[in-house]
Amino acid sequence: MAESQRRRESPPEDVDTEDCLSSYTHIYSPDLLKDQVAFITGGGSGIGLRIAEIFMRHGCDTVIASRNLEKLREAAAKLSAASGRRCLPLCIDVRQPETIAAAVEETLKELGRVDILINNAAGNFLCPASSLSFNAFKTVMEIDTMGTFNTSKVVYDKWFKDHGGNIVNISATLGYRGQGLQVHAGSAKAANDAMTKHLAVEWGSSGVRVNTVAPGPISGTEGFRRLGGPRGEAAGAFQSIPLQRAGNKTEMAHSVLFLASRASSYVTGAVLVADGGAWLTSANDVSMLLGYWSSEKRTDK
Ligand code: HXC
Ligand code: NAP
Repeated sequence: MAESQRRRESPPEDVDTEDCLSSYTHIYSPDLLKDQVAFITGGGSGIGLRIAEIFMRHGCDTVIASRNLEKLREAAAKLSAASGRRCLPLCIDVRQPETIAAAVEETLKELGRVDILINNAAGNFLCPASSLSFNAFKTVMEIDTMGTFNTSKVVYDKWFKDHGGNIVNISATLGYRGQGLQVHAGSAKAANDAMTKHLAVEWGSSGVRVNTVAPGPISGTEGFRRLGGPRGEAAGAFQSIPLQRAGNKTEMAHSVLFLASRASSYVTGAVLVADGGAWLTSANDVSMLLGYWSSEKRTDK
């Protein structure tokens, strides 16, 4: 078929900076989340920020919660200005359940309810297993895996147990093929994928659905920068992805919106891989990754 006749979907609007979209075309009903409240960990940057924005553009109020309150306050101001909805910035460390408990109490006091929990907070960097310290592995497990459990349990105990709700975890495909230099994050996200199923089974009778989105390489994010995305893209590595490009943050937010809304009312325990098919075909080239790592690794250790 001639290139001119081939139908290609264009990706939705996005910007690579930590800003809101300058224009947005709804593909779901604009009141899909009307008057709901979403608690989004790591909602002050990257994919989490765009999830907050897209939810707010669908009528939702949000809480964005992470460690850096100044960053969260700036993000909340931008989000409210772009959407006209409320956004509450709250300081938590997902490794410390008492900080999460205080934030959920504050959410209930200020916004009166929680309908959706997005477990998006994570930490990652390239590092070969042989150079990874015990504490480095533990730190990523604690943020990604313990953090997801801690936040889910606090929100369940304080609200979902009696009112139902929707949990969407943000995972990754790293563990599917043993991605090089990623034993810490791949192990943590694999545990979260199992947790999605366990909690879906146990909490379904309370009206809680638990699902996961597993993004591929997403441009304009810290994860993309840390894992060599820009260099890979410049070298043409994304041509081997079935959809032949990186994803964008708005696309991830649309996948999350599907799972967080009534559009997916009979879906629970599922992992939606939103990666353009990347994990099926991309190189898992340890020597190339070692090259990225050695040119960018910290020299203070
Ligand atoms: C090796 C490292 C390291 C690095 C930290 N460590 N950075 N080891 N390479 N680049 C080690 C430290 O030396 C220390 O071990 C241990 O990890 C804890 O480090 P701290 O700096 O004390 O931890 P903390 O302040 O809690 O910071 C957590 C962090 C940090 C994960 C290390 O980078 C962070 O806050 N990240 C949040 C933002 C982020 O990572 N975004 C990207 C998400 S992308 P020792 O032994 O020295 O005590 C993602 C998946 C993408 O998650 C998938 C893409 C396909
Ligand atoms: P990001 O902007 O760095 O997002 C991570 C967020 O987590 C930050 O806002 C950070 O905020 C927060 N966070 C980190 N540690 C925390 C802690 N201990 N307690 C509370 N919050 C914490 O990176 P991103 O690339 O958008 O990643 C977002 C999610 O997508 C992550 O789950 C990641 O694993 C996943 N993912 C990303 C890609 C990609 O290509 N970018 C691919 C696959 C999966 P503070 O610093 O303020 O705490």
